[in-house]
Amino acid sequence: MRQKMVAGNWKMNGTTNGVHELIRGIKAGFNGSSAEAVVCPPFVYLPFVAAEIAGSAIKLSAQNMCDQDVGAFTGEISGPMLKDIGCEYVILAHSERRAMYGETDEVAASKYAAALKNNLIPIFCIGETLEEREQDITEAVIARQIDAIVDAEGVASLANAVLAYEPVWAIGTGKTATPDQAQSVHAFIRNKIAGLDGGIAESLRILYGGSMNPANAAELIAQPDIDGGLIGGASLKADDFLAIINAAG
Ligand code: 13P
Repeated sequence: MRQKMVAGNWKMNGTTNGVHELIRGIKAGFNGSSAEAVVCPPFVYLPFVAAEIAGSAIKLSAQNMCDQDVGAFTGEISGPMLKDIGCEYVILAHSERRAMYGETDEVAASKYAAALKNNLIPIFCIGETLEEREQDITEAVIARQIDAIVDAEGVASLANAVLAYEPVWAIGTGKTATPDQAQSVHAFIRNKIAGLDGGIAESLRILYGGSMNPANAAELIAQPDIDGGLIGGASLKADDFLAIINAAG
């Protein structure tokens, strides 16, 4: 039985006051859940949020990391640093990083390897653009993105990872994939991995991301191959984020 998971990707939002209010609101309203709850603040607020959630069941994730461990890489943040300040997870290969910061499949695979080496659990993002969906190449795109990490690190590496299917056209647009659309891609992902290793496929958590909110979360997460959500906008409001966690567990 896969444990459901709801992760809030705060992206580049918040200043000290807002971050304090948000994490305190989440902590105050979180009264346990069978779903795993994860928050992903911007780098500079990770230590503060780590201190706030200490002793609670809420877990910490970064939004990105460097593929190198130490050295002359100005402006980068390493896996050992993230471990050091209490991260368990790290979001990798988010479509915003792929589209705006030139993260290729190769870069994504290199970061994935570095996360695993540092005992961070990657929340590895995959998903097609609107043009790719319209060209009917969604599955080919998803397969290519998965192959990039499986070819480099092996299917067994997915035992220590989470995948997040985030159709790019649904991110921040208010245009959620329908439960059927999302389930169909999630099933494709799980079947593809089952072709390599049935046990890994069965235990792998695959999150949906893209305009998930309190109104649509329950129906999406009820789909057989959807194991939770990676939430952007709705994770910036404590009540909405908590409602999604409760919908999942
Ligand atoms: P939205 O929930 O704002 O669409 O963002 C989804 C996302 O990109 C999470 O990583």
